[in-house]
Amino acid sequence: MFGLFKKKREPRPIFQPLGTDMHCHLIPCVDDGSKCVEESVDCLNTLKAVGYDKVIITPHFQHPRFQNDEDDIRRRYEELKKQAADAGVEIEFSGIGGEYRIDTGFQARLDNPRFLQVGGKYVLVEFSLHQQMMGCDEMIFDMQMKGYEVILAHPERYPYLNINGSRIEQLKNQGVYFQTNALSLGGFYGDEAKKRAYQMIERGWVEFMGTDTHNTMYSQALIDLSHDRKVEKLLEKYEFMNKTL
Ligand SMILES: [Fe+2]
Repeated sequence: MFGLFKKKREPRPIFQPLGTDMHCHLIPCVDDGSKCVEESVDCLNTLKAVGYDKVIITPHFQHPRFQNDEDDIRRRYEELKKQAADAGVEIEFSGIGGEYRIDTGFQARLDNPRFLQVGGKYVLVEFSLHQQMMGCDEMIFDMQMKGYEVILAHPERYPYLNINGSRIEQLKNQGVYFQTNALSLGGFYGDEAKKRAYQMIERGWVEFMGTDTHNTMYSQALIDLSHDRKVEKLLEKYEFMNKTL
C-alpha cells in the first residue's frame, strides 16, 4: 500500500553530453505524438530537465496514415515555437525534420523530394516495425545517389533486421547513419530491443541518439531513465554526433 505514495522521481540532466534531441513528435495533432500544446510544453520542459539544450522536432510522414505536408508542418513548428516561448519553455528550438517511413508512398516522395532535413542535412527514415518492405534498401541507395545523408531511426526496433546479418552490415557499409532510441536502453520497447541497442552501440554502429518522445508517458520514462547509472556512464563516454547538429 505504501507504493501508492511513492515519491515522484526528480529528473537528472544525464543527457547533457548529447546537447540536442533530434527525434521527437511534439507538434500537436499531426501524428501519433502530442495531442495538445500543453502536452508538448510538458514534454519540452522534461527534455530540458533531463539535460537537453536543443530540440529538433520530427513528425511522421507515413502513407497513408499520416499525410503530412512539409509546408504545413513548417508553419505548425513556428506556431509551437511561439507558444512554447510564451509558456516559458527554455529548450532551444533547433529546426524541423521529419521521420519518413519507407513505405509504398516513399518512391513518390523520392521522385519529387521536399524532405524536411534534420540539422538541414540528414533525412531521418524508418522502416515498418513488423515486416521488411521489398526494395527499401534500394530506395535508401537511391537517396544517397541523389546526395542525401540518411539516418535510420531506431534500428534496434526492427525484429527482422538481424543484428548479425549481412543486410545490417551492408547498410552500415553504404554509409547509413544509425539513431538509437534512448528509451530502448531502459527496456521501454522490451528486452530484445534493449539488448540490440546495447550491442549496436558496443560495435560502434550508432551515430545518433534520439528520445522519440511522443507524449508524457515517454517523458516520464525518460525521467526514470535519467536515474540509470549505466546509461549515464555510456553518455559520458560514447561519442554521439548529436552535438554536431
Ligand atoms: Fe519516431
